[in-house]
Amino acid sequence: MQTVTTIDALREAVEELRADGGTVALVPTMGALHDGHLTLIREAMKQADDVIASIYVNPRQFGEGEDLDAYPRPLAEDTAKLDREGVELLWAPDGAAMYPAGYATNISVSGVSGGLCGSDRPSHFDGVATVVCKLFNQVRPDMAFFGEKDWQQLAVIRRMARDLDLSFPRAEAILAVPTVREPDGLAMSSRNAYLSPEQRAAAATLPRAMEEAIARIRDGQEVHPTLGMLEDELLGAGFAQVDYAQLRDADTLERLDTDNGNSRLFVAARIGGTRLIDNMEV
Ligand code: PAJ
Repeated sequence: MQTVTTIDALREAVEELRADGGTVALVPTMGALHDGHLTLIREAMKQADDVIASIYVNPRQFGEGEDLDAYPRPLAEDTAKLDREGVELLWAPDGAAMYPAGYATNISVSGVSGGLCGSDRPSHFDGVATVVCKLFNQVRPDMAFFGEKDWQQLAVIRRMARDLDLSFPRAEAILAVPTVREPDGLAMSSRNAYLSPEQRAAAATLPRAMEEAIARIRDGQEVHPTLGMLEDELLGAGFAQVDYAQLRDADTLERLDTDNGNSRLFVAARIGGTRLIDNMEV
C-alpha cells in the first residue's frame, strides 16, 4: 500500500490507479481503526476494483473543549491494518494540505443537520460536510462508504451530494454499512478506548436499554414514557448524562411522537467524559 500526504502525490497516485479503467472507492476515516472501519473497507473491496482509505483527524468538526488533542492517532498500526486488508492507497494529509493558510470556505447543510448531534455539537456537521466534500474533490471516487453508526452524518453527506450535484461520487453511490458491534452489543467506536474497565462494562447498558425500549414501542407502548425509562436506566447504570433519546424518521430525521413505520431510535449519552452515540431501527 502506498501512503501519500500531499495533494500532488495524491493526484498522481489516483491517476495511476485509474489508468486501468477500474472503479475506485473511498473510505474516509479519522483513524484509530477498529473492526467497524475495516468492515467498511471490506465492503468497499467487494464493490470496487481499487480502494482508497483516508485518515485525517479533522479539526473543523471538533468543538471547543472536545477531544481533538486527545483523539488517538496510531498511524503505524492503522497503516498495517489497511495494508493487510489490501487497500491500494492511503491518503493521510497533514493539516496544511487540507486547510492551507487563508482557507475560508465552509459547507453548511441545513435541515438534517439540525437536532440530535447538531444541537449538542454546533458546527460539527459543517466541519464534516466541508472535509468530506474536500475529500471527494481530492480523490474523485466512483463510490464512498460510510457507517450507519453515524446515521445523521450519513444523511448530511447524502444531502450535500444531492444538493451540490456531485458526480464523484454520485449521491446514489454514497453507500451505507450497518453498525458493527462488540459481542456485548456496544457499537464499536474509536472513543471506546477512553473508557475505564468499569465504564466499559456499564456502556453495554446503552444498546441493551435501546433494544428494550424498541421492544416496548413495537409492543404499542407510548413513546415518551418509554424514552423516559430508557434515560433512567442509563443514569442508573452509571451514565452521567443523556444528551438525547429520541425517535426520528429514518430518512427525513423529523422528530416523531409515535412509530410511523420508518422510525429509528437515536441516543447520545455521556459516561465519564466520553460521549457515546447509537441508533437502531424500530
Ligand atoms: P470515523 O469516526 O473515523 O469513522 C469513519 C467511518 O467509519 C464513518 O463512516 C463511520 O460511520 C464508520 N464507523 C465508525 N464506527 C463504526 C461501526 N461501529 N460500525 C460501522 N461503521 C462505523 O466519521 C468520521 O470518522 C468522520 O466524521 C469523517 C466521515 C471521516 C469525516 O471527518
